Amino acid sequence: MNILIIGGGGREHALAWKIQQSPQCEALYIAPGNAGIQTLGENVVLDIKDNQAVVDFAVAKNIGLAVVAPDDYLAQGMVDALTSAGIKAFGPTKAAAQLEWSKAFAKEFMKKHGIPTAQSETFSSFDTALEYARTQTLPVVIKADGLALGKGVVIAQTYDEAEATLRSFMAEAKFGASGKTVVIEEFLEGSEISIHAFCDGKDAVLFPVSRDHKRVGDGNTGPNTGGMGTIAPVLVPDWFLNVVKQSVVMPVLKGMNDTGTPFKGILYPGIMVTNQGIKVIEFNTRFGDPECESYMRILESDLVEILLACVDGTLENVNVKWSDDSVTTVMLASKGYPEAYEKGFEVQGINDAEADSSVVVFHAGTATKEGNTVTSGGRVLGVSATGKTPEEAKKKAYEAADKIHFEGKQNRADIGAFWAL
Ligand code: AMP
Ligand code: GLY
Repeated sequence: MNILIIGGGGREHALAWKIQQSPQCEALYIAPGNAGIQTLGENVVLDIKDNQAVVDFAVAKNIGLAVVAPDDYLAQGMVDALTSAGIKAFGPTKAAAQLEWSKAFAKEFMKKHGIPTAQSETFSSFDTALEYARTQTLPVVIKADGLALGKGVVIAQTYDEAEATLRSFMAEAKFGASGKTVVIEEFLEGSEISIHAFCDGKDAVLFPVSRDHKRVGDGNTGPNTGGMGTIAPVLVPDWFLNVVKQSVVMPVLKGMNDTGTPFKGILYPGIMVTNQGIKVIEFNTRFGDPECESYMRILESDLVEILLACVDGTLENVNVKWSDDSVTTVMLASKGYPEAYEKGFEVQGINDAEADSSVVVFHAGTATKEGNTVTSGGRVLGVSATGKTPEEAKKKAYEAADKIHFEGKQNRADIGAFWAL
């Protein structure tokens, strides 16, 4: 069948890499794609902010499966539009994706369904929010309700910082409508992990546990980013995934079903493992990036078969198999990221890095200029290596990352330092 992927980052490169290996995949289109993805399929110029343009393209190209990967296009209702036009689309509907695009909705949902999470309150008035924040123990966590490119969360260390954050989100509308409502919540101490589950509306299959490294600097210092590297599987006790499934994932599926908005797609709860047990930090309703880059390296089953089963509600018939390998993905970013950065620098050494068969280099922010690969984003490449042990995966990923050069390249040196909970 013909397949369309929406998106153009490292996550979509990893999805394209895996989907292209499926015996079911004939033509593969990616909108907009990037310089790396074009070796796997056709990059398409399409106004993806316009659902109807995507539907028209999908009809014209006889698309049998559309995979909507980024959060903003799920929030835009692209899956709804494709489904209404009779095209199978992987991902939640706009209503189901609200678990990600409104943190206030997600908190309310968790309270209602007894899903463990940080204690919190939601505010739409700056004065009331500020009054409440000043009564909270420091640090206090302030979150913009809506999507904010991963920058809508501030862990305020002082009341002055809390006030400045509330002012910029609510009064100055730094993130537009996304920050007009805020969630103020308790700071959770513990070990952070990423959970992913394939969901078909009633049933879920959990992935092995992974870990992102969100801060830009080694030792989790500096500002939050989209993610500077991932490892999988994080070593957990046998019972762990079952507890997460029963206390988080299945209550979500049941709760969403009960309100007539069944959840299909990837449910990705960020989880803090605290002294008081697991607590959900947030819900994402899509593959994580760069979690996806690591996951695609160790997924053994046919991804297309699984995605179709999620759409069709037949996940119980599919056997999802993972390899026994460990995987490490190190993101190479532009100097200055996650703040302002320059682009257009030539990238060298990708072929050298991929000379080791355990390595795949996924493109995130790249473009082609005069036949050369150049940087075109904050996160430029995801260098992913598998190994028989966590140590081997880490070592190979860094050996490969060191072979790649572009001006201003920055990466964390401690991805894969901790493989336990
Ligand atoms: P979010 O967008 O909600 O995932 O938040 C971004 C990052 O901020 C998370 O990945 C955590 O590292 C951190 N964070 C969010 N909420 C909390 C919290 N309540 N306690 C501690 N850290 C948090
Ligand atoms: N890696 C974090 C995210 O995709 O939200």
